[in-house]
Amino acid sequence: MIKISASTHPAKDDLIGYFKELEELNIDMLHCDVMDGEFVEDKTINYLDVAKINAISTIVLDVHLMVANPVSLVKKYAKAGANILTVHYEAFKDEKDLIKMLKLIKKYNMLAGLSIKPQTTIEQIYHLLPLVDLVLVMSVEPGKSGQKFMTGSLSKISKLRQIIKKQNLYCLIEVDGGINDTLAKDLISSGADILVVGSFIFNAVNKLDAINALKK
Ligand code: DX5
Ligand code: ZN
Repeated sequence: MIKISASTHPAKDDLIGYFKELEELNIDMLHCDVMDGEFVEDKTINYLDVAKINAISTIVLDVHLMVANPVSLVKKYAKAGANILTVHYEAFKDEKDLIKMLKLIKKYNMLAGLSIKPQTTIEQIYHLLPLVDLVLVMSVEPGKSGQKFMTGSLSKISKLRQIIKKQNLYCLIEVDGGINDTLAKDLISSGADILVVGSFIFNAVNKLDAINALKK
């Protein structure tokens, strides 16, 4: 069954208000979009906001770090209650640091996620797959909600699904950016496990109908 991770990004300043609205609905996870104004232009929530949500709910917290220097943040997000901590492949100059980071995330009992921008290929991260619990395939350039889905992501997901199956790996596939109910069907058949959805839920007149349409 597909899981829906609702993105915090469209809510801007009213994170708690938006979360309370979502909590009543059928979402599986809260996708916390953390931006530092350096890796991407926008600056959004941080570990203190994640801790605030954790204090009032037991929802799975799926944290997407779009930050230039994630290494020092692992402990902070673990303490804040993150269940999944995802870092960007492109944020690391030295791959040794990325490998250390992935191991550290697991040491703090969180699932280790690795995200790739649209230009990064599956081949570039192929050798890292045994070290990660989840790959977050970006279907838009990270940084903004409400962008158009890049269709090239579909073949990336199918390729990733084949590799995971062939190598018998435990690795979830999450997709993020520009997703609506029509695209959800294609993404599910390509092999996605988790869909991150921002604008399609946030702008829906009836949010529950929107979530149910994504899951259908
Ligand atoms: C983009 C973020 C996404 C985004 C999703 O950088 O990582 O999570 O907010 O929003 P939509 O669904 O509007 O593309
Ligand atoms: Zn995201």
